[in-house]
Amino acid sequence: MGRQGLPVKYVVVGAAGRLARMSDAWQPDQYARFRAEREQPFHDLLALVEPVPGGRVVDLGCGTGVLTRLLHERTGAAETVGLDQSGAMLAQSAEHAGGGVRFEHGDIAAFAGQGLDVVFSNAALQWVFDHGTLFPQLAETLGPGGQLAVQMPANHDHPSHVVAHEVAREPRHARALGGYIRHNPVQPVEWYAKLLARMGFEEQHVRQQVYLHRLAGPEEVVEWVKGSLLTDYRRKLSPEDYEAYLADFRERLLAELPDERPHLYPFKRILLWGRRPGDAAGQGKG
Ligand SMILES: C[S@@+](CC[C@H](N)C(=O)[O-])C[C@H]1O[C@@H](n2cnc3c(N)ncnc32)[C@H](O)[C@@H]1O
Repeated sequence: MGRQGLPVKYVVVGAAGRLARMSDAWQPDQYARFRAEREQPFHDLLALVEPVPGGRVVDLGCGTGVLTRLLHERTGAAETVGLDQSGAMLAQSAEHAGGGVRFEHGDIAAFAGQGLDVVFSNAALQWVFDHGTLFPQLAETLGPGGQLAVQMPANHDHPSHVVAHEVAREPRHARALGGYIRHNPVQPVEWYAKLLARMGFEEQHVRQQVYLHRLAGPEEVVEWVKGSLLTDYRRKLSPEDYEAYLADFRERLLAELPDERPHLYPFKRILLWGRRPGDAAGQGKG
């Protein structure tokens, strides 16, 4: 149980340390099932970020905060704030707070900051719409010489994603979902390179990378997307309707995937890093 007797999964420590009650579709344990595979892109993104000793960093969509702590240590920042809107994820963040790291409950789309040294986001901005507006908004929160570092999945053409939306369009599920289909806001990789250039980021590194996951069998692909993409449909359905949706999804997807063991699950991701012109002015920088 958390403070005030609330079950921990419903306790969120907000910006002002207040408690909020909420429920959401994120399940930290399901997300963590493929922890090593999901963490590799984080480390690859982190390798692009240059240290900012004494600086200020934010981690947008920080999840449980375990990686926020690593981000803080690697950058040498004085202050790192992890922001997330999932109460279930944030409920696990307390053990990673302290020593300059803190966590806030909030929506990335409404995030406003000033003079930041690093805006970092791993596997979260695919949940926020309108990147043509969002990215310039995030760039505005950086000080001179500030770095933007973002990793997002770009696997929407794989059957695991295509079938999820096809099943959502089937009459029974479309009725339960009120016609909702998840829209993917992630643009082609070259779009981000041009956007960074237009935003004045002269230094940039933008790439798409294939992470080839070796899963035990095709049924593990179902478990993988249950921890990420399907949370969106789960959020919108009653438990019974979600179980029906999941059963149809599993059947359709397993019919499409080769029954090979180990099962090769290629997963494309976009990694981007850019630096605003100017000298960083943070304490401890030359
Ligand atoms: C796939 S998890 C990634 C968590 C963490 N960055 C990591 O690499 O392990 C995506 C996270 O983004 C958060 N998220 C999605 N949309 C958000 C939004 N609009 N505002 C704040 N957090 C958001 C979710 O709650 C979830 O914790």
